[in-house]
Amino acid sequence: MRIVITGGCGFLGRRVAIRLLEKGCGLGPVDELVLFDNAPPASALPEDKRLTLVTGDIADPDTVARLIAAPDSDGGTDAVFHLAAVVSGQAEADTDLGYRVNLDGTRAVLDACRALGSSPRLVFASSLAVYGGALPPVVGDDTALQPQSSYGTQKAIGELLVNDYSRKGYVDGRVLRLPTVVVRPGLPNRAASTFASSMIREPLTGRDAVCPVSPDTVMALASPRRIVEGLVRALDLPGDAFGASRSLQLPGFSVAVGDMAAALRQAGGAAAHARIRWEPDPAIQAIISSWPRALASPRAEALGFGRDSGIDEVIQAFIEDDLAAQMQIGG
Ligand SMILES: NC(=O)c1ccc[n+]([C@@H]2O[C@H](COP(=O)([O-])OP(=O)(O)OC[C@H]3O[C@@H](n4cnc5c(N)ncnc54)[C@H](O)[C@@H]3O)[C@@H](O)[C@H]2O)c1
Repeated sequence: MRIVITGGCGFLGRRVAIRLLEKGCGLGPVDELVLFDNAPPASALPEDKRLTLVTGDIADPDTVARLIAAPDSDGGTDAVFHLAAVVSGQAEADTDLGYRVNLDGTRAVLDACRALGSSPRLVFASSLAVYGGALPPVVGDDTALQPQSSYGTQKAIGELLVNDYSRKGYVDGRVLRLPTVVVRPGLPNRAASTFASSMIREPLTGRDAVCPVSPDTVMALASPRRIVEGLVRALDLPGDAFGASRSLQLPGFSVAVGDMAAALRQAGGAAAHARIRWEPDPAIQAIISSWPRALASPRAEALGFGRDSGIDEVIQAFIEDDLAAQMQIGG
């Protein structure tokens, strides 16, 4: 089987790749795994003859058509994880870039899949940013999509496109609305939520971090481990398991930012805790406060998607999976 991961050199793409190489997936043996990105991987990839890197622009339809048609392989691509995107802060700051990568790129992937004529499986990463406005206390699959950012709008359009292309049999699509993924290793990025990882990651490696929101701000989070398992699970499930909508709210847990700081103290001690500087930023506070505080995911849970027990488990996973490598990173 040939699998393509767009955004394959990014945080989640690289982890999905390693997961597929190590444990495979339920669809059959992975013979060829192609990571497509416009940037090199931030950290090393395993040496594996099944792995290929392709550099290019997701918004260029000809490049994406060639990537997915794969004329050299047996019958083209069997499955696609479409993860390439520019993050929320960047899509908001640069409207043209956001629409080009996050919308035109998604259309290019869908049309390349359609051109195969084999209705390949496609997993698309959406976001809580599709919700907004006057939200109910608990948000889930049935909450109206009212994005309050360009990024959220691009993800919401992508969801509709995946549903329509699936209805028409052009792709066998599935969409996961990911909670904010914490703890993300590496350096801060331009996502509005980047502080939620920084405030754990930096103090544990002896560096200061800024928290721009108030301690009583509640966020819905999930760990990289859960999200990677969720993305692979979404690939494995039969399309009709998703029912009338291919879009699925993944489970997340709710935590107040002040409780995240307290959990950091528990894991890293008072010195680590003291490295968080509380510097309110009204713009970031407004964005984060517009996101769901609590998630209900009965459909995902019925389909076997798991939930982290809470922030302590998430910090522990970061310490086990990423802390040693993080120590080597500057910033
Ligand atoms: N990490 C989260 O908290 C989170 C939450 C919700 C949704 N998501 C979504 O999950 C997906 C993966 O997220 P991530 O955290 O791994 O992000 P990431 O930024 O680490 O990875 C995205 C990758 O896309 C690549 N990319 C950007 N523009 C491109 C272009 N023009 N052509 C080709 N590649 C391009 C980037 O180089 C990057 O490697 C994204 O679609 C993101 O919107 C992530």
